[in-house]
Amino acid sequence: MELAPTLTGQTVQNQVREAGINPNYWYPVAWSTRLKAGEVMPVKIWGQAIAVFRDTQGQLQALEDACPHKGVALHKGEVSGDRLLCPYHGWEFNGAGQCVNIPYFPSDQKLPCAQARSYPVQEQLSIIWVFPGDPSEAEQVPLPTVPEYDDPNWLMVPIPGKFNAHFSICNENTMDVFHGFLHRNLQGWFDPKLLHLHQTDTDVEADYQVSYQGRLSQFLGMSDRGDRVTTRIISIRYRYPHYSNTLEGVSRMYLMRLPVSPTETRSFTLLFLKIRLPQTLVTVVRPLLSRVIWRFLLKPFLDQDVEMIESEQRTYEGDRQRRYVEVNPAIIALQRVILKQDGVQSSHPTSQSPHVDDSELASIP
Ligand code: FES
Ligand SMILES: [Fe+2]
Repeated sequence: MELAPTLTGQTVQNQVREAGINPNYWYPVAWSTRLKAGEVMPVKIWGQAIAVFRDTQGQLQALEDACPHKGVALHKGEVSGDRLLCPYHGWEFNGAGQCVNIPYFPSDQKLPCAQARSYPVQEQLSIIWVFPGDPSEAEQVPLPTVPEYDDPNWLMVPIPGKFNAHFSICNENTMDVFHGFLHRNLQGWFDPKLLHLHQTDTDVEADYQVSYQGRLSQFLGMSDRGDRVTTRIISIRYRYPHYSNTLEGVSRMYLMRLPVSPTETRSFTLLFLKIRLPQTLVTVVRPLLSRVIWRFLLKPFLDQDVEMIESEQRTYEGDRQRRYVEVNPAIIALQRVILKQDGVQSSHPTSQSPHVDDSELASIP
């Protein structure tokens, strides 16, 4: 439905901060390069602890991170061929989660029925994806389409994000173009206007007008000339549970969201830029350029966002009844979608799992 793009005061529904996820989507869990053949790593999707391993042939597998024998975390084990070996007694599990060998069992004795839950897993866009919901639905659910991936006309900048906050707060930050004020010292955008807003049960589409000025904006392709104001339209699309946006063909962003727990969220973002440098130079220094842009030009923006997002979460936790006023109808629309999807299939965390190593943030493909 079309919604009026008028800014009006509305009370935020705090229940969105308690919303669960719809598990019947593919969620990103790691950059592909983080998991080599023969390695296993722990990941977590909305409290579900999962051991993802790459067998020695390079094939990905994902099992519940709890041994059916005594519950030990399987990610602490080791990969052997196409099996994951539990670290405690060495029981061996195949990719389907079946126990296929107990090293101290007589060879003629039948193995007990011991099965770890297995999850659909795949690798696309330099990202490992896991489907935590009903496995029979996994094949019908598409991943985000990213036509710019592998297109030499674009420079791809992978951006990792980690937030100690509920995913709704993170998603609102991505939809909220009115916070250019926060980034004013970094030559962010200014003069935002909401032009158009559309919402369905799964999507929110918002078009905003924004302006850019300065050398950094010019280098990144956002403004035509550093000394003049360039006004553009940014179209943001939240298609549950992930984001994409486009800035008039000069940049595109795909932000894939991982709700780790009610108070921890990650993002795996692919930003595509048309850099104002000779194409031959861009081609030669592509990986280095991508890292430099992320580390020195974009990370300062993200650091500012993290500070705001985590501040919101702390205040919310201090008083869950506190009332907030929102004026952007796109945020209210986003909250409606999140609550709607929570209602589709409620999934609440049931277990604690090993924390994912923060060093992952330092690694991008
Ligand atoms: S706990 Fe896993 S083999 Fe015993
Ligand atoms: Fe921001």
